[in-house]
Amino acid sequence: MTDIAGRVAFITGGAGGLGLGMARALANKGAKIMLADRDEAGLVAAKEALSNTNAVVETVVCDVTDVDQMKAAADATIAAFGKVHIVVNNAGVAIGGQPGEIPLEDWRWIVDVNLMGVVYGVEVFTPLIKEHGEGGHIINTASMAGHFSSPGMGPYNATKYAVVGYSEGMKGELAPHNIGVSVLCPGWVKTNIHNTGFDKPSGGMTLEEAKSDPQYQGMAAVIGGGLSPDLVGEWVAECVEANRLYIFTHPDFKPAIDMKYAQISADYDAAKDDGRFS
Ligand SMILES: NC(=O)c1ccc[n+]([C@@H]2O[C@H](COP(=O)([O-])OP(=O)(O)OC[C@H]3O[C@@H](n4cnc5c(N)ncnc54)[C@H](O)[C@@H]3O)[C@@H](O)[C@H]2O)c1
Repeated sequence: MTDIAGRVAFITGGAGGLGLGMARALANKGAKIMLADRDEAGLVAAKEALSNTNAVVETVVCDVTDVDQMKAAADATIAAFGKVHIVVNNAGVAIGGQPGEIPLEDWRWIVDVNLMGVVYGVEVFTPLIKEHGEGGHIINTASMAGHFSSPGMGPYNATKYAVVGYSEGMKGELAPHNIGVSVLCPGWVKTNIHNTGFDKPSGGMTLEEAKSDPQYQGMAAVIGGGLSPDLVGEWVAECVEANRLYIFTHPDFKPAIDMKYAQISADYDAAKDDGRFS
């Protein structure tokens, strides 16, 4: 999509962090914005924060784990703007833990938000983009955790790998409909993501208790030293215009990706060299 100006963008997790950064960048390029989030007070503040962009901004409360709320948010977007072109499936949460120790209810929760929230966005909005025939773009927020797995982050890694794979296949499927697909794969970005795990269904440590926990302090420091969400948002808007599939933001992670592909290549060669498979 080379012409963001005048398009309508729907953004989940739009009340803060990366969602708001992307909203600001798309608004600066002339898009009309529908911010969706489960955080109603956050949406009010986010709309106010975008007032200096001069963009038309509307908000809708939407929990992405509930497909009926996603449908209602789509209806609200059409009611406000008539059509929708850009869909940013961005809402997400983070939890980790060791195998055998993670409550299954927490697993279901993160899959519902990080994967099914993206699926619902795609399933509900794709027909609406196809319908007007003007083309569009879908941006799914994954992570570098969708390309290599950090120890102790199994549930997060699994959902982000799923979003990368889902997006890769979708690119070819939607190209004939003039709908581009990008998957956003950042490393650390200065947002509130390290605090999202406290909502997990099994409860556990509160944010207050976590503040004296060295592991939490380490994560807060890493996220606090991350990129600015506005910079990432700007890059995302440029990558949409360039119709890039992968949106990477952290060149420092490239050696880890190269190592992963070297490992895949070596293990493939083991099967080839064995002789029984060709
Ligand atoms: N911050 C990072 O370092 C980083 C790195 C890679 C990927 N990401 C991904 O970026 C995305 C945005 O996260 P962020 O870093 O801006 O964190 P954030 O916590 O600042 O923002 C996430 C937003 O999603 C909303 N949200 C959470 N669950 C929701 C639900 N069920 N329904 C609707 N809204 C919901 C929150 O209210 C919040 O406004 C996530 O998918 C995250 O996994 C973040």
